[in-house]
Amino acid sequence: MHKNRVFSRRRALVFGVGALAGVSASLGLSKNKQWQNWAQAMAAANTDFTVQGDKSMRERAAAKGLIYGAASDYAILLKDPEFADRFGKECGILVPEGMLKMKGLRPTPTTFNFTRSDWLLDYTQKHNMLFRGHTLVWHNLLPDWFKETVNAQNAEKIMVDHIKGVAGRYAGKMHSWDVVNEAVYPWDGRSDGLRNSPWLDFLGPDYIEIAFRAAAEADPNALLVYNDNRVQYDTREGETMRTVIFKLLERLKSKGVPVQALGIQSHLWGDEVRFNPEKYRKFLSDVASLGLKILITELDVTDLNLPQDEAERDRIVAKTYEDYLSVVLDEPAVVAVLNWGLSDRHTWLSELRARPDGSPVRPLPFDRDLKPKLAWNAIARAFDQARPR
Ligand code: G3I
Repeated sequence: MHKNRVFSRRRALVFGVGALAGVSASLGLSKNKQWQNWAQAMAAANTDFTVQGDKSMRERAAAKGLIYGAASDYAILLKDPEFADRFGKECGILVPEGMLKMKGLRPTPTTFNFTRSDWLLDYTQKHNMLFRGHTLVWHNLLPDWFKETVNAQNAEKIMVDHIKGVAGRYAGKMHSWDVVNEAVYPWDGRSDGLRNSPWLDFLGPDYIEIAFRAAAEADPNALLVYNDNRVQYDTREGETMRTVIFKLLERLKSKGVPVQALGIQSHLWGDEVRFNPEKYRKFLSDVASLGLKILITELDVTDLNLPQDEAERDRIVAKTYEDYLSVVLDEPAVVAVLNWGLSDRHTWLSELRARPDGSPVRPLPFDRDLKPKLAWNAIARAFDQARPR
């Protein structure tokens, strides 16, 4: 099971200068990108993805004191029992991809609809998994009534009531909550780097602090997480996000705000080579030095610009997982790794980052037939090689 596939250096070469160049050209990729793909294919070709034994990812993670899991959702787990079964075996934690966002939970300003999220909690309990909340406060997926109902006078009450209603309902049953999601967006031009969101407009920057205090009151047992993305690459974007997020966390901690962890979404790109392990290690340890835990919350690898050949593509995707996780799991403050979806059968990337050649995307550890791919091996190996917590 999960044995390494044979991929000779020669084949990689042929692939690199021949097939890949052709595919890259047909994808309209630049010469630079073609060479980048080629270099990655070569690196991937030389990587050993062999995995010992037949333990699941959740078992391998647990053996090191880590938690492994993934995002999924009500409609998927309800209607796809084969997937739901595999999910329960591989995952030690479930985070609903959409069902705990404000829009789905709040049909009207005064009511909550917990039918689907209760079903998900029940599912986790039946499979002996942890449950994780995403997300209490976000600028996105606000209910339709939000615009005409919320204003500067009532925003705090509406936000706090929402947090108390939702986090309160699951109090004692949640491993962790993404209390605030994606509050940073330095390109909105504010000096503090915060995103222009309705919450910020109505309440000012203190909305983050108010949200964490309300969540701590509603569920004193859940790990309270600030969750954001785009921090991983050695680019101007990555550098800016790392700086602004670190400053935000530092500010919150210095004011005694009960933020307890940073969630790093980690939507990776298979064709992105600007990953600098030293800088990233430093960022993770700086965050840890604030007394925070770190969770990898939405891990996947976009294969949009990778070659069409599935075997070649899978190797580059697997290598991307390996390069990232080997750095991340070296940091003792990292306590959990979650994929944003478990199988290529159900992934947001199918629609939002579809491939120009029309072939199905392959960003996750299992393929559409629920067979483990090399990405599974890469993740399993990363847990096997991680130091115990
Ligand atoms: O439920 C409707 C369905 O009835 C309709 O037929 C269909 C038509 O497109 O839309 C369905 O709703 C979509 C929903 O996903 C379920 O598939 C929404 O339009 C769509 O906006 C929603 O997208 C989700 C997105 O967040 C916004 O909530 C993605 O699935 C989800 O993967 C994505 O997750 C985000 C994280 O929350 C935060 N970090 C980034 C991550 C990826 O964008």
